[in-house]
Amino acid sequence: MKTTINKVKNYVGKEVTIGAWLANKRSSGKIAFLQLRDGTGFIQGVVVKAEVDEEVFSQAKALTQESSIWVTGTIVEDARSPFGFEMQVSALEMIHESVDFPITPKEHGTEFLMDHRHLWLRSKRQHAVMKIRNEIIRATYQFFNDNDYIKIDPPILTGSAAEGTTELFHTQYFDEEAYLSQSGQLYMEAAAMAFGKVFSFGPTFRAEKSKTRRHLIEFWMIEPEMAFTDHDESLAIQEAYVSYLAKAVLTNCKLELTTLDRDIAKLEKIQAPFPRITYDEAIVLLKEKGFDDIEWGEDFGAPHETAIAESFDKPVFITHYPANIKAFYMKPDPKRPEVVLCADLIAPEGYGEIIGGSQRIDDLELMKQRYQEHQLSGDAYQWYLELRQYGSVPHSGFGLGLERTVAWFAGVEHVRETIPFPRLLNRLYP
Ligand code: 4AD
Ligand code: MG
Repeated sequence: MKTTINKVKNYVGKEVTIGAWLANKRSSGKIAFLQLRDGTGFIQGVVVKAEVDEEVFSQAKALTQESSIWVTGTIVEDARSPFGFEMQVSALEMIHESVDFPITPKEHGTEFLMDHRHLWLRSKRQHAVMKIRNEIIRATYQFFNDNDYIKIDPPILTGSAAEGTTELFHTQYFDEEAYLSQSGQLYMEAAAMAFGKVFSFGPTFRAEKSKTRRHLIEFWMIEPEMAFTDHDESLAIQEAYVSYLAKAVLTNCKLELTTLDRDIAKLEKIQAPFPRITYDEAIVLLKEKGFDDIEWGEDFGAPHETAIAESFDKPVFITHYPANIKAFYMKPDPKRPEVVLCADLIAPEGYGEIIGGSQRIDDLELMKQRYQEHQLSGDAYQWYLELRQYGSVPHSGFGLGLERTVAWFAGVEHVRETIPFPRLLNRLYP
C-alpha cells in the first residue's frame, strides 16, 4: 500500500511503501536508523540487519543524504518520538542517488544557508516554520469567511503610493511610471464601499533600506477593511483575529512547535482582550524605562517597541499617535486633532509591530487638505477622493504582516526564515 508519512497512523501493524528522501542517517554494524522525509512529515525508518536481506542492509548503510527512495516497511507505534510512529524497514529501492548534498548535519553559517535556500527548505526546522505559515494562512481565510468578509484582490501594479513615497519600487508601465504595491489599502477602501466587509491577502513591496530582523523587501499582508466601523470596533476585530490565529496554531501545529522548541505558555497567553495604551502613555512609560531623550512627536523604533512590549505579557495596542508621523488617510481624533484614530499592535518578546491600522478620513474636504499637506498629486488619487463624495461612511481597516506573525508564533528570530524565498536588502537569489 502506497501512503505518505502524515497518514501512517492509519497503518499501524501494516506494511506500506513511502516515496521519501533520506534526511539523515545513523548506523552501526547491526542496525541503521534512517531519518526519512516526504514533504508531509518526518519518520524514522529502522533497518535491523538480522531481520532483512543482506542486500537491504548494505543498501541502507550506503544511502547518501537526500537520495530519493521508495521505502517499504511495517508501521509501529513509538512512544519515545514526538511523532509517535516509526517504520521497520523491509525493502529499499533507489529512485535517484544524491551526491555531496551541500547542507550537512554540521553547523553552517547563515549566509551559506541563505545561498542554498532552495535546499535549506528541506530541513526539519524550515519545514516546521512553513507549516506554521500555512496554518496562519488557512486560519486567516477561515476567520474572515466565517465572519462574512469577502476576499478582494487589489492590484499589484499601481499608479500611486499608498504608504508614503520614499519606499516605492518603480517600474515602467509602457509609457507611464508605475509602482509595485506597498499596500492594497486604498483599493480595499473602494471595495469596502461596495461589499461592506472585505479582506485582501497578497504580496506587498517596500524599497526600504532596512536591514533588521523584522524587515523584508517583499512581504505578504492581510488587509481587512470594514464600512460602518469605527476605531474601537476595529481594535476588537484585530484582537479577535490574532487570538484566533494563535489558537489555530496551538491546536494544529503541536508537532511543529515542539520541533522549534517554542515556549507554548507564551502563545497560550495570546487571548483577547489585549491591553491598550495611548502614544502619550507610551512616552511616559519609555521615560520611566530610561529612554530620556524621546520627545512627543517622534516615531518609535524597534528598541522602543521592545521596551513597551516588555511591560505586558500579551500583545499591546499603542493608540492615538501624532498625526504628523502617520499616513495621510488617518482620521484625526475629533477631541484632539493633533492625534489620529490609529493603533499599532506590538507583539511580545521583541517581535515588534505586527499590525498597523486606523479609522480613515471620511470627509472630502479634510482629505483634500491632507493631500496638500502631504504634497500628493490629486490626479493619481482622484478615484480615492470620490469614495468620500458618494455616500461616505465611517470606516476602518488594518494590515497584518504575515512574516512577522509567523516569526512570533514560531519563535524564529529573523523574518528571513518565515518566507520561502526572502527578498532582502542584499538578496535577490535564489
Ligand atoms: O504599518 P503598515 O505600513 O500599514 C499599512 O501598510 C496599512 N496600509 C495597512 C492597512 O491599514 N490596511 O504595514 C502593516 C504591517 C506592519 O504592521 C508589519 O507587520 C508589516 O505590515 N510590515 C512589514 N513586514 C515585513 N517587512 C516589512 N518591510 C514590513 N513593513 C510592514
Ligand atoms: Mg506601521
